[in-house]
Amino acid sequence: MRTIIITGGAGFIGSHVVRLFVNKYPEYQIINLDKLTYAGNLANLKDIEDKPNYRFVKMDICDFDGVYKLMQEEHVDGIIHLAAESHVDRSIKDPFTFAQTNVMGTLSLLQAAKLYWESLPEKWDGKRFYHISTDEVYGALQMTHPEGIEPPFTTKASSGKHHLAYGEKFFTEDLKYQPHSPYSAAKASSDHFVRAFHDTYGMPTVVTNCSNNYGPYQFPEKLIPLFINNIRHRKPLPVYGKGENVRDWLYVVDHARAIDLIFHKGKIGETYNIGGFNEWKNIDIIKVLINTVDRLLGRPEGADMDLITYVTDRAGHDLRYAIDSSKLQRELGWEPSLQFEEGIEKTVRWYLDNQEWMDNVTSGDYQKYYDDMYKNR
Ligand code: NAD
Ligand code: TYD
Repeated sequence: MRTIIITGGAGFIGSHVVRLFVNKYPEYQIINLDKLTYAGNLANLKDIEDKPNYRFVKMDICDFDGVYKLMQEEHVDGIIHLAAESHVDRSIKDPFTFAQTNVMGTLSLLQAAKLYWESLPEKWDGKRFYHISTDEVYGALQMTHPEGIEPPFTTKASSGKHHLAYGEKFFTEDLKYQPHSPYSAAKASSDHFVRAFHDTYGMPTVVTNCSNNYGPYQFPEKLIPLFINNIRHRKPLPVYGKGENVRDWLYVVDHARAIDLIFHKGKIGETYNIGGFNEWKNIDIIKVLINTVDRLLGRPEGADMDLITYVTDRAGHDLRYAIDSSKLQRELGWEPSLQFEEGIEKTVRWYLDNQEWMDNVTSGDYQKYYDDMYKNR
């Protein structure tokens, strides 16, 4: 038996983590604690909402008293913390909300867990605070090769496997934090607080930094779902700058699998980077999306290339992210299960097959789901 709070479980990645834990561990009690900001959508969890080992609690992670009381009442022994403001463009417009939720919210959660767990006779024994973070805390990598070879080139990861890369350096766990956006600055600060609670009080923490995720249930302000929906409706695709920035993409279910593994087997006090050695230039991904949507909708492949619209670049736009996940692969035996081509095909199909989900999100109707389904439970 375990009782675990998963914060941010109504969001994109959180909903996949909640689904995996509820289905895989019927003996655990899973509490999804989420404030339901614009990014929270309980319809993401329709398929598991009536399971006996699942409970939803609408709460702000900044509500210290509420979290402390919930932990006491439910005898919570694990926290998997995903709740955050997560969109870089929003952080550029409104940095305060990012500091409030990502920094103060994480601190409030840490302090509530500390006070509750320290009050128990067994104290830290059998407890775990798992903080989910991003590779963006490391800053941006260059697109260079020591011998001047034009990227992308084939390189060998420290795991021993060959893959395509746009530069010779990767984000490893020992790299200095150099966040650039208000989003990544706030996430970096929250990571430091988690490590400080481990180092100062001995809290059993673990931190992971993952690359860009894609897959079903992602809010359509992020590149992949936004562009799939725009291609479907033949709306312009706003490509920032020249579309040359590189991101390292991982299928969301593979991230959830890594979280499951690390929650159970990861070493206390450690950091693990999660990524699939899968770097892509934005413009190349956009072309794959156009071809895939066109093909699946029965349009001539590439017919919608003219939707590509170059717009003013994002302020402080990080050039390249690339994760070295060798430590996780070596120490815990994790591997991504899907090749990118498979994952993208699956993802495009999901959005095209779930147009109602997309329409509810774009119309704002999804925000009524809580009132309709939960308020009087
Ligand atoms: P998301 O924006 O889709 O979901 C965030 C969830 O947190 C929402 O359900 C929202 O309602 C909830 N939330 C926000 N503020 C809250 C608060 N104050 N109290 C309680 N709940 C609150 O985010 P996501 O993309 O699923 O990311 C989840 C986590 O993973 C974040 O911590 C993010 O930094 C990290 N991450 C994301 C990616 C990615 O590519 N999306 C990659 C690496 C790491
Ligand atoms: P995004 O999905 O916002 O993730 P992140 O900024 O966390 O990497 O963006 C992915 C990449 O796509 C990033 O380089 C910015 C770019 N982008 C666009 O070119 N146009 C868009 O409309 C969006 C949302 C992103």
